[in-house]
Amino acid sequence: MKRFLAVVLGALCLMPAQGRKRENFDGGWRFMLADSAQMRRADYSDAHWRVLDLPHDWAIEGDFMASNPSGAGGGALPGGVGWYRKHFRIHEVCVYLLEFDGVYMNSTVYVNGEQVGHRPYGYSSFVYDITRYLRTGDNVIAVRVDNSDQPNSRWYSGCGIYRHVWLTTCDETHVKPWGVHVTADAKSGKVTVTADVQGKGYKLRHAVYDATGREVGLKVKVPHRWSPEHPYCYQVKTQVVKGGRVVDEVWTTTAFRDFRFDAKTGFWLNGKNMKLNGVCEHHDLGCLGAAVHEDALHRKLVKLKAMGVNAIRCSHNPPAPELLNMCDTMGFIVMDESFDMWRRRKTQNDYARFFDQWHERDLTDLVLRDRNHPSILMWSIGNEVLEQWSASPDPSQGEEPTTADEANLILNKPHDDTPSLGGGQGETETMLAEHLSDIVRRYDRTRPITAGCNEPSPGNHLFKGKAVDIIGFNYHHEWIKDVPKNFPGRPFIMTESVSALQTNGFYMMPSDSIRKAPKEWWLPYTDPTFMCSAYDNMHASWSSTHEQTWDVVKHTPYVGGQFIWTGFDYIGEPTPYGFPARSSYFGIIDLAGQPKDVYYMYQSEWTQQPVLHLFPHWNWLEGQEIDLWCYYSQVDDVELFVNGKSQGTRNKMVRNETGEAGNGAGALNTPYHVGWRVTFEPGEVKVVARKGGQVVRQQVIRTAGAPDHVALTVDYQGRDLTFVQAVVVDKDGNRCPWAEDQLFFTADGGAQVIATDNGSQTSMERFTAPQRKAFFGRCIAVVKGRGTLTVRGYGLGSTAIRL
Ligand code: GAL
Repeated sequence: MKRFLAVVLGALCLMPAQGRKRENFDGGWRFMLADSAQMRRADYSDAHWRVLDLPHDWAIEGDFMASNPSGAGGGALPGGVGWYRKHFRIHEVCVYLLEFDGVYMNSTVYVNGEQVGHRPYGYSSFVYDITRYLRTGDNVIAVRVDNSDQPNSRWYSGCGIYRHVWLTTCDETHVKPWGVHVTADAKSGKVTVTADVQGKGYKLRHAVYDATGREVGLKVKVPHRWSPEHPYCYQVKTQVVKGGRVVDEVWTTTAFRDFRFDAKTGFWLNGKNMKLNGVCEHHDLGCLGAAVHEDALHRKLVKLKAMGVNAIRCSHNPPAPELLNMCDTMGFIVMDESFDMWRRRKTQNDYARFFDQWHERDLTDLVLRDRNHPSILMWSIGNEVLEQWSASPDPSQGEEPTTADEANLILNKPHDDTPSLGGGQGETETMLAEHLSDIVRRYDRTRPITAGCNEPSPGNHLFKGKAVDIIGFNYHHEWIKDVPKNFPGRPFIMTESVSALQTNGFYMMPSDSIRKAPKEWWLPYTDPTFMCSAYDNMHASWSSTHEQTWDVVKHTPYVGGQFIWTGFDYIGEPTPYGFPARSSYFGIIDLAGQPKDVYYMYQSEWTQQPVLHLFPHWNWLEGQEIDLWCYYSQVDDVELFVNGKSQGTRNKMVRNETGEAGNGAGALNTPYHVGWRVTFEPGEVKVVARKGGQVVRQQVIRTAGAPDHVALTVDYQGRDLTFVQAVVVDKDGNRCPWAEDQLFFTADGGAQVIATDNGSQTSMERFTAPQRKAFFGRCIAVVKGRGTLTVRGYGLGSTAIRL
């Protein structure tokens, strides 16, 4: 009967001229954090369930608890099983495609009580043709989401339907999901389009439009080139024509760019030799959790762009489609990555359980979904998979399972000089790598393949054979000098680098001694502050300071670039600490989106922006010895004054070409910053920057008095969300850097405070609470809608801002 209905529905399809209609399907879902087999049923009563709009992440609404099974590595937030249901009516009689951009994880979708599909991997997008399950009139979709088996991730995953859902109605004859494939050849200007169509007896029609909307033909005479500076995109229209009627129409973004990775000279884009100045990013959006929001994503990218970042690695899984759209149009080069593990698990319940059955499908769908994005210049088939080695622990073979925290330490184990290549098994691992690359190449031959590898020797099974086109190291910058010898003729990048550790606003002195935390990967690290130093003088045992790695990348021509771990802090993986730390220290920007000081080091190296950034603050104990650092660019030298008295003029050290120590890591003065050691006295510090003897810029920091009120400024305003920064200041407006006041936010008009954060890695306050303690004097509130935001604090009065 159902099949019959489908045929009839198809036959009756009365679509508009262009065929397809793709609607956002996020609104009006019902949610319950509970589990029962009854919840799938069409007649189940969900009237008492919470009503919400997707995307939604139920974990971010919870409390941080050591007992939450994700552990601190997963953000110490809850997991569990949740159900979503949506009622809707069907009037048109057509083909219906239901598309989920991402559900974490183990989702099962039911339509009118019947199971439509199941998808374990929480980062894959998937589409179901639900036509045959539907009936005209009332329908109900039920989705079971199971994130109860923990830990299954080395970072915070989020829980639920955390990306958008779409409903597409189309003719029986239609382009299959991700069925259009567009390539644009920068040299010839030729655009090639293929389309995989469901149905018979149709013709295809393609047209290309430039950014002004002008039709330009399938061979563009002088194509504009896409680059991070000029992300010029074209649009391709694909029409399916049947019986003289357009029955389907799909639009695809494309661009012309000519790039290559060279074993001697690194990365080239459109004939220009340049570095990938990249960062790795996880998917969470700080206090908003995993629930994707275009404004929050855009805010991230705006901040990274201003820092000079030109490349993003989607670590370690397929990203939200919106991120890729923004990278296309804002100009970020993307490394699109598939997996954090293959057959060998890193945490007890991770994707390794599903790999054998699902990897082909998941990897195929990733490439099909993403291959048209001009921003993507590389695929990664995996991150630090344990298959790099023969002799690594193999829990799936009954060896001790690894906790999330242990996994992070084990994965970063220092290189063993005698890698055990283990004959037969090594071959299997290489074959597996090649098998994955073959899947990618089946659907896209226009981009090179790499993998993030923390085994830098040629004995790494992923480097053998034909699996990777680009050798990618995670860390091990000291091995870079041997790359030409170890990998002759093969291009090279740092797929992941740095992993420095910083808490925004906290400084460990003396600044010229480097702290390794932990000292060795197997040792615990404790410090009662649960903080890390925001001078660039602290990193994990496997990693480096920011300056150390940048110095090698900058001065080694065959290094195509790096992807720093990470641009933003993220929830989970609070190396080097355990609970109550619950978010990362690795970011150049903190979890609340506030740049840490080293942001300005990169800005001074990577942008044309004049930079002058003096730190830290100027509120210390009288007589205390304080190190002041300054990042600057485009001037000859800088001079520091304490209460008017000169502390000397400095310029950045000239690099010593003779060795790594020449980059001055761990020194007060390096090629990347200058520093002074001065005795604190209240008043002001001033740094003056001169060019040709003329003062061109200066910055003053004053000792703040007692907290007086809260200053509010708009940090970022998007279409729907506004991020407002609140700073506790003295009566003259100076930030009180030690203020920890509890701040209370309220909004009126059409506005609502939906989340708060202060960048602290150990705050136990709920992210969704409208109150937050200041951390080193500041915090942020995220406001939805327009209206007035008011902040209050004891003894601080109230301050309002109109949004
Ligand atoms: C890498 C890993 C990342 C993160 C990082 C922390 O080994 O690929 O996911 O764990 O270490 O330093």
